[in-house]
Amino acid sequence: MSRVAYVNGEYLPHGQAVVHIEDRGFQFADGVYEVWGVFGGRLADFEGHLTRLHRSLDELRIPRPMSPAALLRVLRETVRRNRVRDGLVYIQVTRGTARRDHPFPPEDTPPTLVITARSMDRAAQDRVAAVGVAVVTAPDIRWGRCDIKTVALLPNVLAKQAARERGAAETWMVDEMGLVTEGSSTNAWIVDAEGRLRTRDTQANILRGITRHALLELAAAEGLPVEERAFSVEEAKQAKEAFFTAASAFVMPVVSIDGLKIGDGRPGPLTLRLRDLYLEQARNKAV
Ligand code: PDD
Repeated sequence: MSRVAYVNGEYLPHGQAVVHIEDRGFQFADGVYEVWGVFGGRLADFEGHLTRLHRSLDELRIPRPMSPAALLRVLRETVRRNRVRDGLVYIQVTRGTARRDHPFPPEDTPPTLVITARSMDRAAQDRVAAVGVAVVTAPDIRWGRCDIKTVALLPNVLAKQAARERGAAETWMVDEMGLVTEGSSTNAWIVDAEGRLRTRDTQANILRGITRHALLELAAAEGLPVEERAFSVEEAKQAKEAFFTAASAFVMPVVSIDGLKIGDGRPGPLTLRLRDLYLEQARNKAV
């Protein structure tokens, strides 16, 4: 089936969808992105990701490319043209195309807007979740503004590749204190020895995950004890359960960290329940 991408106002065949060589996203990683999960052709947590997109743009003083209503139309249309029922829709906004020069380009430079959508094999992902995945740890070598969802992802790319090369699905990055910050493209969670859900607070230099936020709300509604507090690699290895969250992974059970089994080496019951709860509400609330 032919794929279609939205580029600056046009829907183009995927193979012909290009941006200029002097796009600042290409030259300087001067851009931001978002990823929505797609359920039955509809977007999960549209508002949450939109609000974060606007925040990322505002923090970097990149103009918003269009109104929320227009953006939702284009996102949906890209999903529709790609016949995505279950999958992901990706948006990237850069500071536009201009002669390569570090300072911002003239104010009338339009931002570059690219949107793509692709299907995901949810059944295959469910099969992975049923057995869980391995995580490894590595130092967090990123910059100081990881709260902004920029396309400057080289440390994340290296961390993910290191995971692959060590037979793991994800790398949990670790700060100078030995505390886990987050995954290369996911937020990190444990169920600690006292049975509390733990995930790092967002005062730290991490991305404020939208799935993380949704899960905190679900946990509160379920009356589960939750603590937004950093945990060490040691605590994670001693945890009853571990998992990570993202729009692309939902809630993914972690069954080993650096080769050490978590609990009995199988996905934890609370993790699996949270995955079900998350999927149900994401499906129900998708727009
Ligand atoms: N990644 N932390 C990092 C560094 C991330 O890149 C992501 C998302 C998350 C989870 O955020 P959310 O729940 O809002 O998806 C945490 C996306 C999926 C990606 O890079 O493809």
